[in-house]
Amino acid sequence: NTASNDAKNLRVKLVLLGDSGVGKSCIVLRFVRGQFDPTSKVTIGASFLSQTIALLDSTTVKFEIWDTAGQERYAALAPLYYRGAAVAVIVYDITSQESFHKAQYWVKELQKHGGPDMIMALVGNKADLHERREVSAESGMDYAERNGMFFIETSAKTADNINQLFEEIGKLLP
Ligand code: GTP
Ligand code: MG
Repeated sequence: NTASNDAKNLRVKLVLLGDSGVGKSCIVLRFVRGQFDPTSKVTIGASFLSQTIALLDSTTVKFEIWDTAGQERYAALAPLYYRGAAVAVIVYDITSQESFHKAQYWVKELQKHGGPDMIMALVGNKADLHERREVSAESGMDYAERNGMFFIETSAKTADNINQLFEEIGKLLP
């Protein structure tokens, strides 16, 4: 951007959705605290964290993150968290075809009930477990492309692509 180097400070509501156990809370913990918890507990209801990053053009982005509970019993609460969200990150586990189907369910729900300008990202987590992979990167990429979503594979365990996920989202913000 050649016009100026004015700093822009953005504040963004982001919601994470996806099946229980895919690693939503671990992605957030890695992003916000740089840690991994192999004994991570299932989320009850939802939890809230925030983290600010700086992009290369000196824009800062404060992510206000709603980490929702993936267990079926909490599904009815999801609209409370995705309503008004600028960004939805839909997570599956690359070792679970079932979690990929669940991700597609969330995409459809957001296409029906999310805001029209919502930025959606599809994330295949647990990329470190490649020997147990059930969902190819191509399947994830194709699905994301057909639905106008950003796609990335991550590992909360190794930290692979976790910061990149949020930086790429930051670049997509208006
Ligand atoms: P709910 O809160 O029930 O919706 O689940 P969640 O999506 O928040 O899952 P959580 O982050 O609690 O992680 C579930 C399990 O997967 C934990 O045992 C984590 O340690 C493990 N896990 C999360 N991310 C990764 C990863 O990238 N690689 C590996 N190998 N394990 C992971
Ligand atoms: Mg959780």
